[in-house]
Amino acid sequence: MKGTEYKRIYLKFQIDNEILLGLQKLFSYYSYSDIFYKIEGEGLALYLKQLNLTDFRKKIQHIKRMFPNKSEIFDSILNEIEKIKSYGLKGKKRIFVGYDKERKVKERKRKELERGAYFYARGHNFSRKNNPFPDEFKNKIIVGDSEEVLKKLPDNCVDLIFTSPPYNFGIEYENHKDGVNWDKYFDKLFAIFNECIRVLKYGGRIVINVQPLFSDYIPIHHIISNFFMKKKLIWKGEIIWEKHNYNCKYTAWGSWKSPSNPYLKYTWEFLEIFAKGTLKHQGNKELADITADEFKKWVYARWDITPEINMKKYGHPAMFPEELAKRVIKLFSFKGDVVLDPFNGVGTTTVVAKRLGRIYLGIDISEEYCKKAEERILKEENRLL
Ligand SMILES: C[S@@+](CC[C@H](N)C(=O)[O-])C[C@H]1O[C@@H](n2cnc3c(N)ncnc32)[C@H](O)[C@@H]1O
Repeated sequence: MKGTEYKRIYLKFQIDNEILLGLQKLFSYYSYSDIFYKIEGEGLALYLKQLNLTDFRKKIQHIKRMFPNKSEIFDSILNEIEKIKSYGLKGKKRIFVGYDKERKVKERKRKELERGAYFYARGHNFSRKNNPFPDEFKNKIIVGDSEEVLKKLPDNCVDLIFTSPPYNFGIEYENHKDGVNWDKYFDKLFAIFNECIRVLKYGGRIVINVQPLFSDYIPIHHIISNFFMKKKLIWKGEIIWEKHNYNCKYTAWGSWKSPSNPYLKYTWEFLEIFAKGTLKHQGNKELADITADEFKKWVYARWDITPEINMKKYGHPAMFPEELAKRVIKLFSFKGDVVLDPFNGVGTTTVVAKRLGRIYLGIDISEEYCKKAEERILKEENRLL
């Protein structure tokens, strides 16, 4: 890091004597090696290297009390500094320059190769040739067992699969027995996932929302991830869906204030993300509909989203909220892409896919749930008219 390097931010406003006095006072607390200011042109230039922001906020409050008529100006200075989202940390200070260079790994690509990045996915036999999605399956809700229905689709024709399988908790679904022996559960689940992998395009993604049954000590999210990795898909990452659900039901007897068998509680679920063949999904940049703000927010892999509150209304016991589907679809697919949900329930994935201009296919074993999914699509169509 060069000693003369600073991050410069510029604020344009009329500077009068009162502001000048405030600035002099504020920056008298700091040395040139942290932050300094210059009056440049029609405004104020700040030169930032490092700053203890908590302390800076206090100083700003102090200056605002001294110059109450200029509160807005001093708030805007603080705002501009708070807006900077890339920085390093050293003790209590935010480091605004050079923090990334210090950490930079030289010859990153070669080192990745040597380590064997996603070694488990090497030597796959996935065809690179993608196929068109058949017209008869476009924008359809189909009642049936996904293992059977998916067999009717060609290889490599779906861009994104987003789904949440039955969790085997013993939930009362309309037409599916939830809560079978775990071997049986995984056999069926993996038979359906095998079909999902086959129909996924080269460069397509599959995103699985799961909540492990902690009371059975079954880490479904790890078992599912191992399955996909053995099938040579690349584990692209994991998103924590923080539900702030503090009403976790289970507490083992004797767990209170005793190390004998404390029971860990979770207020979140997981989204496991896999890519077939390559991490890069081909698409026309013009058809990316995610905004800069959404992108910046959503690539942080902890999403605070309230659970679905309308489950009674839809008559389904285990829906995910539309916001979750919206983020997954916008972050991982382009407009016009094909989105599939093989456990579509009452159609949260499909209605959001429709809203976002994707081609959708939803499959569920329950006729009742599929009817609801169709009704939601119809409502969406009427809304769009
Ligand atoms: C966790 S729910 C999905 C809910 C959905 N995400 C929503 O928001 O409405 C799982 C669904 O899988 C369905 N299901 C279970 N076995 C199936 C199978 N073999 N083929 C298709 N759907 C199945 C159940 O009927 C249930 O609706």
